[in-house]
Amino acid sequence: MTTATARAHSNIALIKYWGKRDAARNLPAAGSISITLEGLHTDTRVDFDPTLAADTCELDGEPVATERMRPLLDHIRARAAIESRARIITHNNFPTGAGLASSASGFAALTLAATAAAGLQLSRRQLSTLARLGSGSAARSLFGGYVEMLRGSAADGHDAHAVPLLDAADWPLAVVVAITDADAKAVDSRRGMTASAAGSPFYASWLRQTDADLVAMRAIIAQHDFHALGALAEHNCLKMHALMLSTQPALLYWNGATVNAMHALRALRKDGVPVYFTIDAGPQIKALCPPEFAATTAATLAAVPGVQSVLRTGLGPGAHLLS
Ligand code: PMV
Repeated sequence: MTTATARAHSNIALIKYWGKRDAARNLPAAGSISITLEGLHTDTRVDFDPTLAADTCELDGEPVATERMRPLLDHIRARAAIESRARIITHNNFPTGAGLASSASGFAALTLAATAAAGLQLSRRQLSTLARLGSGSAARSLFGGYVEMLRGSAADGHDAHAVPLLDAADWPLAVVVAITDADAKAVDSRRGMTASAAGSPFYASWLRQTDADLVAMRAIIAQHDFHALGALAEHNCLKMHALMLSTQPALLYWNGATVNAMHALRALRKDGVPVYFTIDAGPQIKALCPPEFAATTAATLAAVPGVQSVLRTGLGPGAHLLS
């Protein structure tokens, strides 16, 4: 086979990844835990074509640079002993580069499609390790439901991959995403992480706290304790943003609507609705709640000044081949 198409779903971290132990190999400085999202996905078709002079990529009809895909594609070519360049055609069903983890679904779909197109048959763990070369969060999108990314300790990174913790169907959860600005973010995660490691006085403390939060979140997921999950996810997210804000120069990913939405969700919680939030490297806010509270949460977020649109989703599957 020289052509294959894969779909991968985006994910959001409950315990965040923000820091690398090896920038060249893209190895995380700590583990992370995420949930894979049903409604946000990337479809990617890869064609290894001997007539191409260079790798090409079209995202939603527009040509995009392929530099960030190079390490992954070169690795796949070396492993499959092929020379051909890749023609990549990819579509996101949600805004790209705005803190909705398009790099996660994008690199997971690319990894699965490109390895299949190259004729490689790899385990999920091997695919996850490869996806990490493109983006750390992509390693998690190979799996569905609740997923943990392992930090690993090997210098070559072979043990830095994701593992599944719990199936989506075993503990359904709703995620309501409020879009406050659909434009691409100012500082991408790669540059942001490097800046925080070099320029925040809180970086070492953040990494230590992440390790403790991972232990706690694993136990919470095993117990299906929603309030504990939400409270820890929100706290971990706010610690990551405290790290970002304490970076010099400061990384401020929120806008006014992001803050309005945080207040609205906290007020809703005070009124008895079990809802918590998390925010990545962008201004969108993601509310977490049991499925029966998704409609109330979506209505509350839609009424927040500055919220442009609201998406409702649940937990989704791991990356899979479409053809
Ligand atoms: O792996 P990247 O480069 O997409 O970075 C992910 C960074 C965060 O979304 C902020 C946190 C995370 O764990 O997904």
